[in-house]
Amino acid sequence: MSGDLSGKTVLITGGNVGLGRAVALELARKKAEVVIAGRSKDSCETTVKDITALTKNDKVGYFPLDLASFQSISDFVKDFSACYSKLDILVNNAGVWSPPFDSTEDNIETTIGINYLGHFYLTKLLGEYLIKSRARVVVLSSDTHKGGNITPDLLDLHGDTPLLLKPLENRTFKSDWLQYARSNRARIYFARELTLRHPEITSVVVNPGAVKTSLGRNLCCLKCFGLLFSPLMKTPERGAEGVMYCCTSDLSKESGMYFSDCKPVELPEGSVDSKIQTQLWDVTDQLCNKLTNKRN
Ligand SMILES: NC(=O)c1ccc[n+]([C@@H]2O[C@H](COP(=O)([O-])OP(=O)(O)OC[C@H]3O[C@@H](n4cnc5c(N)ncnc54)[C@H](OP(=O)(O)O)[C@@H]3O)[C@@H](O)[C@H]2O)c1
Repeated sequence: MSGDLSGKTVLITGGNVGLGRAVALELARKKAEVVIAGRSKDSCETTVKDITALTKNDKVGYFPLDLASFQSISDFVKDFSACYSKLDILVNNAGVWSPPFDSTEDNIETTIGINYLGHFYLTKLLGEYLIKSRARVVVLSSDTHKGGNITPDLLDLHGDTPLLLKPLENRTFKSDWLQYARSNRARIYFARELTLRHPEITSVVVNPGAVKTSLGRNLCCLKCFGLLFSPLMKTPERGAEGVMYCCTSDLSKESGMYFSDCKPVELPEGSVDSKIQTQLWDVTDQLCNKLTNKRN
């Protein structure tokens, strides 16, 4: 990879606003063909128009994708496959914290359903393209993963869904925080396991730091935190620098690593468990197969 991305096809989830928009803009500046995947047609179309006008890159497009729906993910991949024959970089960026809905269309807890499971399924369906292109997968996460331990009991199958992915009975601020932290731990496990299972894919995790975006839109305390600490937080453009570094630098020797401020960072003792990592992949894959079969 280099600074000039001419001829490269890049797909970014949630590329319409926040960090994702800033990354999509930089990718377009570097002449990549950029596909924005998002759930709001109006917002995505406006972003595509703005980016095209700002960069004069007319190879920026949009397809609808709702990561809270397996049907939508599958439809998205059909749309994508009809127009593109390769995918060089996938940026799994979209994310939520304390979303308004408790569960996704497929009855999965929403935060983990969008941040982790939806992206797992999307990456699985795009696998053929990623392997063929020896692609790069860049996964967004955050330091909150340190509080998001995933214990073996959360991976036990209860019916056909592990406890980790089941909707919560009583949501509180604390439980929403824990789900967000666990989704970030799961995203790290996903990126590490992906590169173990498919060494032809370079897969890295990036922590963008604290960035001024609408991520905390549903939480009063996060909005207050944002107002109070706004001067100390990064702009989306600054936050995008670390993501761009992971998209464009030669990281073949750093596959599976966690990046902060454009540097690989050792994860603290106890925050990675290889057995849980493998088990999480296996139960998630089984669940994806079950949900796909249920739909067909
Ligand atoms: N901001 C930070 O300080 C920070 C720190 C660490 C990590 N991160 C991570 O960075 C990523 C980007 O977050 P952000 O800060 O830019 O937040 P943001 O401004 O709220 O953007 C989140 C993006 O995700 C999209 N999204 C949410 N649910 C979706 C769904 N069901 N299907 C498809 N797209 C969906 C949103 O689409 P809509 O516009 O339709 O809502 C939006 O494009 C997230 O993964 C977040 O966890 C952020």
